[in-house]
Formats: sequence, structure tokens, C-alpha cells
Amino acid sequence: MAHGNKSDWDYRGLAAEAYDLWFGDEPYVDQAFYADKIRELGGTSLEIACGTGRLLIPYVRDGLDVEGVDASAEMLAICRDKAQRAGVKPVLHQQLMQELDTGRTYRTVFIPFCSFQILARRDEAFAALERFRHHLEPGGRLLVSLFVPWTDFAVYGQWRLRRSATRPADGATVLIHECTRSDRFEQLQRIWLRLEVYEGGRRTHVELRMHTLRWYHQHEFALMLEHVGFREVRVFHGYADAGERLDATEGTPPQGHGATERSWPRPPIARAGTSLGERVPEPPGAPACRHRGE
Ligand SMILES: C[S@@+](CC[C@H](N)C(=O)[O-])C[C@H]1O[C@@H](n2cnc3c(N)ncnc32)[C@H](O)[C@@H]1O
Repeated sequence: MAHGNKSDWDYRGLAAEAYDLWFGDEPYVDQAFYADKIRELGGTSLEIACGTGRLLIPYVRDGLDVEGVDASAEMLAICRDKAQRAGVKPVLHQQLMQELDTGRTYRTVFIPFCSFQILARRDEAFAALERFRHHLEPGGRLLVSLFVPWTDFAVYGQWRLRRSATRPADGATVLIHECTRSDRFEQLQRIWLRLEVYEGGRRTHVELRMHTLRWYHQHEFALMLEHVGFREVRVFHGYADAGERLDATEGTPPQGHGATERSWPRPPIARAGTSLGERVPEPPGAPACRHRGE
């Protein structure tokens, strides 16, 4: 389904079909973290951008009451098939997160795997946070996973192999190559993905996609959360539950908490105050792969 000019990374075709090849088997690195948080508050939870149900299906199978939302009909179709095979039938909604409207509220709304960063436009990011808050019960909690692409800064404009896997159905090799250009001034990253299928040593399929990702720093994101009415913002580094409290706010409506946590630790290579002002160029027809040698 096309979504006009709204931010929506294209998880259709090969990207949907191959998604489950990339992340191995349970337990996933973030699985226990969200499960613990969901159990803590009980009630019904909502996973934003649930995709093929990597987390959603194990959670529902294990007795958690979790619904899912995703923009991609194909990812949701795969999720439904997998759920059926697991003997569960989760409630799934096909919606954009920035226009979320499931008609009910939840104890926990969570958005794993840094999928919030798909919303490159700031107005859409705020709209999504508003929608998440609107879908929380009083005392409910929002969990958002975020990362800063520190390591990509050093490989500006270079193609590299990101993932490779064997497709069990036919033994084909499926590869994703990635080329990124990070604009540290605007906190935007352009990502070109080249998806390839090899059968019998010959490339039988290739396609190119372009995405834009926005990253946030923790205090900036805390202010955004507070701006839309969240309070008691906590930051988790990695998936260990050793939350540091950021500046708690007074006087904002007690409609929920925002918790942000970095999805995987990456070494910071830019110091605070570094202002490189890189601008992301307009997407070329075929991405140039030059080395900026920062
Ligand atoms: C990296 S996958 C994450 C899937 C799943 N949460 C997981 O952890 O495996 C990102 C998902 O976001 C969905 N998506 C992209 N843009 C979206 C949007 N604007 N609103 C809702 N979902 C979106 C894609 O269809 C895709 O399934």
C-alpha cells in the first residue's frame, strides 16, 4: 500500500520475504527486556511496527496480551501465517504509526528495533508520539528503542555487506549491501540498500531501495517526550534494566512514561560540540560509492 509522501520504509517484496532470514532464532537480544516491562504493567500492549512478528508472536504464544501495528500488508501477512503455525491469532492493524488509531488504549506501547527512526520528518515524529500517548491508559508506558549510527560515520558513502543468509525454501543466497551517508548536522542518514539473490552462483535478482533515518540524542528525545506530555523519562543503555533517570518533570499530565533505550552499544566517535555540518546530497540515480575518509 502506498502512503503518499508519509514516511514509510518499503518492507514489501523481497524485503518482506527475506526479513525473517536475518535475525536468527529465539531468544532475541531484546525479547526479555520488553517482555519484562509488559508483564510489569500487565493489561494489553501494542507493538508499533511489529513486522513479521519476531517479538509479537513469541509474546502472544507465551500468554502476553499484545496487539500489533504495521504499515506493510506483506509483513502483516507473513506475521499472520507464522502466528497460525504457532497456534495463536494476534490482533493486527495495518496503519502508519504517525496516524495510529486502533480505537482503544493500552498499558504499554512499545516500538522495538529502532523503528521510530523511520520517521525522518520531525512533524511526523511528533505526530507519532502524540498518537502513542493518546493510545496509553493513565499510568501506561511507552518504550522506544533508539540508536545513533556512530559507526556509520566512518564509512560514509561506502558499499558494504550488511547481511547474508540462505533461503531455506530453495537454498538461494540472499544478500543485503548497504551504503550510508550521515548528515551529522541534520541528524539524518540516507541509506541505500541493494538486495540480491544468488542461485547456483549466479545473481538472479537485484533491487535497490533508499531509506532515510533520523537519529536523536537522549536529552533531545527526552525533551520531545516531555513536550507531548510524557513524564518520568528513563534511559536504558542496551537491554539491561539499569535505568538512569533523566530530569523528571513536574506538572505535566500523568498520562504515562517514556522510556528510551539504545538498542546496541556503539562507541561514540564524535565528541559533543563537533559540528561537521554535512549535508545529505539528493539521491543520485545510482549511489556514488566514494570514500570520504573522515
Ligand atoms: C525493522 S522492521 C521491525 C519489525 C519488528 N518490530 C521487529 O522487531 O522485528 C520495521 C517495520 O516497520 C514498518 N514500518 C515502516 N514504516 C512504517 C510506518 N510509517 N508506520 C508503521 N510501520 C512502519 C515496516 O513495514 C517494518 O515491518
